[in-house]
Amino acid sequence: MLLAIESSCDETAAAVYDGERILSNVVATQTIHAKFGGVVPELASRAHDVAIWPTVDQALKEAGVSIEGIKAVAVTQGPGLVGALLVGAGFAKGLALAHRIPLIGVNHLEAHTYAAFIEHTPYFPFVSLVVSGGHTRLEFVRDWFDHQLLGQTRDDAAGEAFDKIGKMFGLDYPAGRAMDTLSRTGNSKHHRFPMALLDHSFEFSFSGLKTSALYHLQDLEKQHIPIEGQLLSDLCASVSESITEVLRIKTRAALEHTGARSLVVAGGVSANSMLRSKMESLCQELGVQLCIPSPPYCTDNAAMIAITGWHRLRLGQQNSLDMQVYASMSEAP
Ligand code: KG4
Ligand code: ZN
Repeated sequence: MLLAIESSCDETAAAVYDGERILSNVVATQTIHAKFGGVVPELASRAHDVAIWPTVDQALKEAGVSIEGIKAVAVTQGPGLVGALLVGAGFAKGLALAHRIPLIGVNHLEAHTYAAFIEHTPYFPFVSLVVSGGHTRLEFVRDWFDHQLLGQTRDDAAGEAFDKIGKMFGLDYPAGRAMDTLSRTGNSKHHRFPMALLDHSFEFSFSGLKTSALYHLQDLEKQHIPIEGQLLSDLCASVSESITEVLRIKTRAALEHTGARSLVVAGGVSANSMLRSKMESLCQELGVQLCIPSPPYCTDNAAMIAITGWHRLRLGQQNSLDMQVYASMSEAP
């Protein structure tokens, strides 16, 4: 029985896994950041500190397991906000020490990819597209924990583009989900926003789109056209089209380049309905198996930390109590 903890950003999450099934998956989302239009690191750490025990306690109760029944603890080690990560890591270390159980540090981005294994069985080697608030990465995954980076974003992540442009449209942070909902009743061809294809490399850039959206809004403002109703839906759909089309084109190129027969799409933005339907058509056309976690396993959660931690433990990879957290992938061990 493994307990997993996630606290890398603004969700305090805990899950219990028995090696076959996720027995509980509890996520406490911090709402305090909405009024600031983005995550305030200091407030996130404090909120994790308050929420961590109630969240773990609820996960244990829902799983019907006592704390003594936990035989290993997995925790997000990075990348993420250091102060936020330290709350989860400190808690997990305390538990590992008190109960003399293994401590397993988990890479948050690997965990997003392995979330696909909760409900699917991707075939190795596969291509993984992780699209979240902080990252946009295309990887070739040869085996468990054997990842080759194909390309990542040079500036904003896909989720960040949704959030920042959504904010310009007057939507609350994080705006990705609201943009998705509004897009469903919008015309994606209403306005053609730019798509950065960057000489057909596997790299991404979404900052040009953000600037273009800003100029377009300024034009509308000058003409005293309010951003609401059908126009808002059309703009959301047009922005979504630009973001998801770039993701589709690059993913297609990665599948063709690697010859992989499975595709994993993960991270918060993989909950996006337009992206999901584009990836479904792409995989059908190429005869590739598509594995996208269901929405609760796309956004930050501890079930993905649990499954990743379980496989690290299975391979004999565990951490000592002097484990360090890390802010970025470049610091990852
Ligand atoms: O993976 P995640 O929960 O946290 C990070 O590790 O960043 O991803 C959060 C991101 C946010 O930018 C949020 O706006 C975006 O995922 N997101 C979506 C949708 N649901 C969440 N973006 C587009 N469409 C959605 N349905
Ligand atoms: Zn994440």
